[in-house]
Amino acid sequence: MASADGTHPPLVFSGMQPTGNLHLGNYLGAIRNWIRLQNQYPCLYCIVDMHAITVFQDPKELRDSIRSVAAAYIAAGIDPAEHIVFNQSQVSAHAELAWVFNCVARIGWLNRMTQFKEKAGKNRENASAGLFVYPNLMAADILAYKATHVPVGEDQKQHLELARDIAQKFNTDYGVPDFFPLPEPFITGPATRVMSLRDGTQKMSKSDPSDYSRINLTDDADAIALKVRKARTDPEPLPSEPAGLEGRAEAENLVSIFAALADKSADDVLTEYGGAQFSEFKKALSELAVSTLVPLTDEMNRLLKDPAEIDRTLAHGAERARAIAAPILREVYDVVGFVR
Ligand code: TYM
Repeated sequence: MASADGTHPPLVFSGMQPTGNLHLGNYLGAIRNWIRLQNQYPCLYCIVDMHAITVFQDPKELRDSIRSVAAAYIAAGIDPAEHIVFNQSQVSAHAELAWVFNCVARIGWLNRMTQFKEKAGKNRENASAGLFVYPNLMAADILAYKATHVPVGEDQKQHLELARDIAQKFNTDYGVPDFFPLPEPFITGPATRVMSLRDGTQKMSKSDPSDYSRINLTDDADAIALKVRKARTDPEPLPSEPAGLEGRAEAENLVSIFAALADKSADDVLTEYGGAQFSEFKKALSELAVSTLVPLTDEMNRLLKDPAEIDRTLAHGAERARAIAAPILREVYDVVGFVR
């Protein structure tokens, strides 16, 4: 893995918003891939608290959520001694580079962002300005380190294309052709878009009002089993190959979740369960989900008993992150012509 032009050493960056509970979509779409990558490349895994406040957050809940996301990263297997785990607001280079990118990105580009349209809803005039320029801060997160690869779920693809456009425009406008790498999205595995358990056409999301739509990383075994049992399905048995899932969004979603948790392909899952009724399949899925997630939740809870230790880990991560980002930001300021 090297950057598209081969001039930048591989470096992985990704992040998650500390807004409410992390869920199975965050885990299968992102964290699982982060863990795989950490065996091969240097990685920075960030808790993007500045992105979180683009929509109002209660300060106490935000603080709890930052620590709980940090605990989830570590409990899932990210090694904060080897890799860099930190929260965004502790490294001022993110905000500073984002300002430069506010001046590089075009309003027309931002107007095309589907996530802004979804989040702002009908009342766009009342959305925060931060929500509109959110993708510029995301580009800054990645490019403050000249990161080359960004493991995310499918829903972040458009934001990453914008980050590439920003990098490209900066390099061209300032006549510094290879200054920023064009970061590559790394969207992989059978569950890049985990759907709601209540409606197979909607993404599994923290903001869905129904808690039955998602499995949270804080759910216990009973809650997981109940949610899987109540998950919407159709009356047909499972097909024996993936083509038979067409037009059956809920069935397809449960098969993808199973495949991702078992580290198998959908093909393999259907070879085993083709012809089975959902009652049988859900029982197996529930056992698999419980055996994967409950140890993670237990470890998260254990870590959260010592918030001071989490804060020390984050402070140490931020210090290491600053050491990489600060010289890059200085170069950017030189390139744009600031006097210092
Ligand atoms: P966020 O916090 O919404 O989600 C964190 C990660 O989880 C993935 N994800 C999903 N994957 C599969 N199925 C789902 N239902 C699902 N829901 C969420 C997301 O794709 C993401 O990878 N803008 C980002 C955070 C961010 C970031 C960055 C990411 C800020 N700066 C720089 C990468 C690099 C976000 O809101 O993710």
